[in-house]
Amino acid sequence: MAAPENGAAQFNATGEAVAKGTLVLEMPEVPRERIEAIIQCYPPERRYALAVMQDMQHSFDYLPRTALELLAEYMSFPLAQLYSMATSYKALSLKPKGRHIIKVCDGTACHIKASLNIIDELDRLLGIRPGDVTPDGQFSLETVNCLGSCALAPVVLIDGTHYGKVTLEKLSGILESYKPGGECDG
Ligand code: FES
Repeated sequence: MAAPENGAAQFNATGEAVAKGTLVLEMPEVPRERIEAIIQCYPPERRYALAVMQDMQHSFDYLPRTALELLAEYMSFPLAQLYSMATSYKALSLKPKGRHIIKVCDGTACHIKASLNIIDELDRLLGIRPGDVTPDGQFSLETVNCLGSCALAPVVLIDGTHYGKVTLEKLSGILESYKPGGECDG
């Protein structure tokens, strides 16, 4: 977690200013040269903006604010429009993802089997809703439409592992194994 020092302004994970003393997710530094190397693979034409953002997402796991600013400058593209694109595409993220990515299926079969209760339980256990990351960066939570294992509904995917017929009772044990030092936290 970022510790406020020397009175500098603080920003949250999406780059908005927040009140002093607010706990904020620590943003991994991405060297400017790495950002520029990706941007300069493309001509300075707006039609390539999405492709550049996808490449940056792939390389950095999120879109750092500086990367969007440099891209806006390079392509003479309004920064607000880049932010709007970044929030419209599910594959793009303005926040670094957690070390472990929890995907709760909310497709029809899982929804009928109370996937929303699983989301609420994750909120209770980890304090995050879909789209959020825990303050320690250990978990992020997403919802997905169907993981192709409907017979095992409700289904949760953590990193590459499917968990079927998940109950609220099982959920905390599963999470424990992904916490620091847990057997799946390697
Ligand atoms: S609806 Fe959840 S796995 Fe298909």
